[in-house]
This record gives sequence, structure tokens and C-alpha cells, in this order.
Amino acid sequence: MTFTFVTLFSNLIEGYFHDSILKRAMEKNLFSVKYLNPRDFSTNKHSKVDDTAFGGGAGMVMNPQPLFDALDSLREEDENVHIVFMTPVAKPFVQNDAKRLAKKSHVAFVSGRYEGIDERVIEKYADEVFSIGDYILTGGELASLVVCDAVSRNIEGVLGNSASLEVESFETPLLEAPSFSKPKLYEALGVPSEYLKGNHSKIRSLKLALSESKTKFFRPQELKKHKATQKLS
Ligand code: ADE
Repeated sequence: MTFTFVTLFSNLIEGYFHDSILKRAMEKNLFSVKYLNPRDFSTNKHSKVDDTAFGGGAGMVMNPQPLFDALDSLREEDENVHIVFMTPVAKPFVQNDAKRLAKKSHVAFVSGRYEGIDERVIEKYADEVFSIGDYILTGGELASLVVCDAVSRNIEGVLGNSASLEVESFETPLLEAPSFSKPKLYEALGVPSEYLKGNHSKIRSLKLALSESKTKFFRPQELKKHKATQKLS
């Protein structure tokens, strides 16, 4: 699996792969990361990559030319590359997307800076367009990293223990039950006793009850939907 970040600012991204789980996964060749800078493709004598927008509006928009050429070169190199644009004007990225993208051989993330990307680039090259939430970042780099991280942990072998993927929030409409590590007592705060006793069926029912109460508190609409579908089945 290859991830390519199409960005003017690869420095913002690189450090994330220098430690922890993703570093180890790269050392095991489970995926590799490449960078493509649209500025390297600019035909402008000052390597300019942005301009003011037609129709007015504050801020600069990324020009089509450097991106057209960068993305053409990417497609020429690998016709199977799956090109994803990150922008707040898109469908929300969810866990199912992460699982689906983990099966691709090559995913490229195109990050916009300034006020956005010329729509013609998105029209021509986007296989998919994602937003990571209803807020505006200064650029798509952080959004690309969020998506890349969520995708990579679904690649076979990246998480040491594949069981960690089995019961996670968003695999069902319910939020995950809380976890506790050792010690049993910390600053006078205890761990639910059922967790300590090792009766797996009791632990399962307690976890379900805790999942439901977390969901009721944080996402009441989701719990209602979950209960409604359970009644139907
Ligand atoms: N670029 C800027 N804000 C963004 C967001 N919320 N999601 C994806 N890309 C973005």
C-alpha cells in the first residue's frame, strides 16, 4: 500500500510517521509514504501556485495548472491510484471509509491551502472528496493525516493485535465501553469490579450497558436509532 500526499507543505506531515505504530508499520513495509509538491510542476517563472478567485471573494485559490500536471504525473505512474481531495465542502469521512480505503493499493490525498482548490481540478481528478468535520482548517494537510491514520490502522498487520479492530466505536452505532489499565485503584478511583473478576459473559453485559450509557450521554439520537433497529430485528 502506498500513500501519496500532494501538498505544498510536506514538512507538516512527515513527522507524524517518525514514531510509534505507523513508524513500525513502515519499517515492516506494510505501507510507504510519498510526497508530491504541486509547486515543482508550476510553469510560472516564480513557481506561483495560487491566484485571486474569479467572481471575487477574499483569499487566494490554488491554480489548476500545477495540480493538473502533478496529478497527471501521478496517474501516469500508477493508473490505479485512488485520488482523494480534502475539503470542508464534502461528505464526512467515517470509519467505513477507512476500512474501504485500506483495501486500495495506492491512495493519494490532495491538500488545499489558501481559500481552496480550483473546482476544475476536483472535477477532473477526484475519485472521492472528504471533510473531517464541520470546521475550517488552515489547509488540508491535517485532514489528510487524520484520514491516512484512520486508514492505515485498518491495513492488515499494522495493529499488532487484530482483535483491537474487532469491537470498536463506529463498528456498531454504539460508542465503545470505557477501558481501564492497572492499577485497580488510582487516586481513590476504582475500576468496575466486574472487569476484574474475569467472568466474560458478565463483562460483556456490563460493557454493553456502559456503551449504551455513553451513547445516551454523548449521542442520544444514535442510541434512539439503535434501539429502533433492534426492535425491528
Ligand atoms: N480543509 C480545511 N478544512 C477541512 C476540513 N474540515 N476537512 C477536510 N479538509 C479541510
